[in-house]
Amino acid sequence: MKYDNEIARRKTFAIISHPDAGKTTLTEKFLLFGGAIQVAGAVKSNKIKKGATSDFMEIERQRGISVATSVMSFEYNNTLINLLDTPGHKDFAEDTYRTLTAVDSVILVVDSVNGVEEQTRRLMQVCRMRKTPVIVFINKMDRDGKNRFDLLEEIEKELSISLHPMTWPINQGKDFKGVYDLHNKNLRLFTANTKATDDDTISFSDLSSSVLDESIGDRDAATLREDVELIDGVYGELETKSYLSGDVAPVFFGSAINNFGVKEMLDTFIRIAPTPRDRETNKRPVAVNEEKFSGFIFKIHANLDPKHRDRIAFLRVCSGKFERNKYFHHVRLDKDVRFSNPYSFMAREKNVVDDAYPGDVVGLFDTGNFKIGDTLTEGEDLFFTGIPTFSPEIFKEVVNKDPMKTKQLEKGLLQLTDEGVAQLFTQFGGNKKIIGCVGELQFEVIQYRLLHEYGASVVFNSLPFYKACWLTSKDAKKLEDFARFKQGNIAEDKDGQMVYLAQSEWFLNTERNNNPDIEFHFTSEVHK
Ligand code: G4P
Repeated sequence: MKYDNEIARRKTFAIISHPDAGKTTLTEKFLLFGGAIQVAGAVKSNKIKKGATSDFMEIERQRGISVATSVMSFEYNNTLINLLDTPGHKDFAEDTYRTLTAVDSVILVVDSVNGVEEQTRRLMQVCRMRKTPVIVFINKMDRDGKNRFDLLEEIEKELSISLHPMTWPINQGKDFKGVYDLHNKNLRLFTANTKATDDDTISFSDLSSSVLDESIGDRDAATLREDVELIDGVYGELETKSYLSGDVAPVFFGSAINNFGVKEMLDTFIRIAPTPRDRETNKRPVAVNEEKFSGFIFKIHANLDPKHRDRIAFLRVCSGKFERNKYFHHVRLDKDVRFSNPYSFMAREKNVVDDAYPGDVVGLFDTGNFKIGDTLTEGEDLFFTGIPTFSPEIFKEVVNKDPMKTKQLEKGLLQLTDEGVAQLFTQFGGNKKIIGCVGELQFEVIQYRLLHEYGASVVFNSLPFYKACWLTSKDAKKLEDFARFKQGNIAEDKDGQMVYLAQSEWFLNTERNNNPDIEFHFTSEVHK
């Protein structure tokens, strides 16, 4: 096919982790390997520092950084890597979920001291839903962490994924001596506070060699032999097929800050990670090597400058070739649009790009035409599916403080929720507007932006809900009766889908038990 060469040399992925596990550090090491940056410290952490939640300068600074690092493209070993950034702050978790719909694989960083943490669970849930191939990097082996076998068991159990060790650590913390590469059968020695080099690698055709004892001491050599025998017996060679289907995750141990264990992982990533894949739509699967262009918007980034309400919409190319100044079909609006200044993000600089291929991400200037999940094609009417919306965790009623600005408020709410900053619900039978978010920080952002960009002044009243469930039923009458009976808990989302707002798990379970003909969904898809 026409663009096969371009597709075959691209890999698009994201690094995900609980904050502080080492995502920024690992990203930086990757960029150093790829030559995209020259010095350590060039990648700013995109997390909002603790205690700065009300500081809008901080939010703005953060947003500035996250535009610049939204996509980091670099070349390594003839492969064009698109690394999509995910926000570190928990309150922006929805953004991360959507970014996961635009990647073909994921590297998950787990802190060896803390093990599986809360945010990791949710992120992996999205990966499992989408069958995204995952590589796990167990970081901070230079610190006294959990026992390695216990860690593997914990990850497997908590994240419901089978693991396959690719390297095996020799001790940890101050006794950490390095890793044994189970695939290449070599030992990589670790020295604290020095960067790993190829000189620290010893190859073994046979682990019983006395060189092993000389390198790491008799006791550790004996333990390693036992461990390797056990692991080889249990796991054998990694089957790439089971990694690609998202069933088995290869695991590497290392220390990102010491650049230790990172290159092995990157080399394996280049070898096994998927190139851009075919994608499902509401009409038919779109093959990645189709000649005609298609792509979808997975993220929208607003300019916080009140004088310019423009935004950048991030488009993932799914098939064909995206071209500057060419007319494409905006399916939802049923109109043709073209872009004179699309951006690419090569070497962390924004550059105007003339064309882009499957796997690439292009930044498009937008004045309010796009919302998350929008599809562009060369004319065909289809929508990419599998872009989930999760239930918010905090719900508040919007109270308009300035009735003269009702129109502006409505417009602002619609546009902000199109961007995916929050979810908007309208209570059934009334017109109470309810905003649902993952974190408190978003309410502050919304209040600030409504005032500064739309001139609308609002306050929020807390509501006693903890979860939204999307409702469907084969029996329309039953659904209608339920909605009438439970009016105070029923709302519509922006697309007119019926939602049940539950006060607590107990209420939710009770309603589910009492209404077996009604399905309660924990996620909603932008397009079904
Ligand atoms: P994040 O993006 O996942 O939130 O994590 P980030 O890379 O910012 O790393 C969090 C902290 O963990 C940083 O320390 C970083 O230096 C440290 N770190 C990363 N990898 C390793 C490792 O392999 N071993 C050890 N011991 N520490 C590691 P910090 O003090 O919070 O920030 P900084 O002042 O060092 O930047």
